[in-house]
Amino acid sequence: MTIEILKRELEARYSDSGSAINYYFSPGRVNLIGEHTDYNGGYVFPCALSFGTYLAIRKIEEPVIRMATTNFDFKAEIPIGTTYEKIGEEWVNYPLGVVSELTKRGDKISGMEMLFSGNIPNKSGLSSSASIELVTAVALNDLLGLGISRIDLVKIGRAAENHFVGVNCGIMDQFAVGMGKKDHAIYLNCDTLDYELVPIKLDGYKLVIANTNKPRGLADSKYNERVAECQTAVKMLSKGKPITLLAQLKMADFSKLEHLITDEVIKRRARHVISENDRTFEAVAILKTGNLIRFGQLMNDSHDSLRDDYEVTGIELDTLVAESRKIPGVIGSRMTGAGFGGCTVSLVKEEAIDHLIKVVGENYLAKTGLKADFYVAEIGDGAQKLT
Ligand code: GLA
Repeated sequence: MTIEILKRELEARYSDSGSAINYYFSPGRVNLIGEHTDYNGGYVFPCALSFGTYLAIRKIEEPVIRMATTNFDFKAEIPIGTTYEKIGEEWVNYPLGVVSELTKRGDKISGMEMLFSGNIPNKSGLSSSASIELVTAVALNDLLGLGISRIDLVKIGRAAENHFVGVNCGIMDQFAVGMGKKDHAIYLNCDTLDYELVPIKLDGYKLVIANTNKPRGLADSKYNERVAECQTAVKMLSKGKPITLLAQLKMADFSKLEHLITDEVIKRRARHVISENDRTFEAVAILKTGNLIRFGQLMNDSHDSLRDDYEVTGIELDTLVAESRKIPGVIGSRMTGAGFGGCTVSLVKEEAIDHLIKVVGENYLAKTGLKADFYVAEIGDGAQKLT
């Protein structure tokens, strides 16, 4: 999407001639390892992608916010108010949630016309929601001169999702799309928000994303169910050690305390989170030594734990991962994001990529009846103003 096309589209959709049009972009993200650890105060290791959400926006005199997108037909005109209501399950709830959070803080919002255009595959688990939240937050902060720090914009994006959209997500996605840097992954401690940008040098290998294209029907409610299960685990474990978040335990502590969890399902959920947190810590350390093989094994272990203990994979993700691992030149393959559909990410020798796309694509179609899409990931920068 070029700025020229966005400009033309915006002018064609809105008759109002407001002030100058400004352009912003916010990426999607892929998480390399550290899944379902963020809301447990653990480590994550995501990177921003080169595709994402574009926004053309201008201030207008009328006290309304107009929102439209080139991706869906639904559009909205919302009077500026002191509170905002969620509109069904529509896409506008993400930017509107940001407006609502800013308003709650006491920031003064004025009339706007906004046109979004995204090239992140919808509901693919590559954070199209965080992307639209952050592009909105960054643009409004800039245009209205709100003076909010980037990290606070990240928190506002998450709050929009938690309080307005109703998904109890952690901070990983908004952090990755807000703070990402080209050719780097972000090693983030989701409890303290301390982070390090780690250069991703893959030496003859590439990250290949494969989209299951599975419709993600009940994903949000199942996600919230996992968050609640982790809270139950904390309650039970804290009888043995005073913890408030699962990631405050290492696997060595967990082995001594797991008898306190009386429910087998809850025990497996906790085991995933704590082992995944240990794995993420090791994975980042090992990547810095250049040992891609071990990094790939940890990616595999991560998926297996998400499949067996956390139970967020399903036949589509498991098939893509199993078929990818059969391809010579693949050293790691796992689901990425929340799961329940969405995408996998694999570490693949460059020469093997075409073969992988062909063979995995065919076998996946034969086994599931669905056509997968493949992307070679390019790691891009976080949300920004375009000139
Ligand atoms: C979704 C959420 C994130 C994170 C991942 C799982 O992407 O938005 O906060 O919990 O799932 O790691």
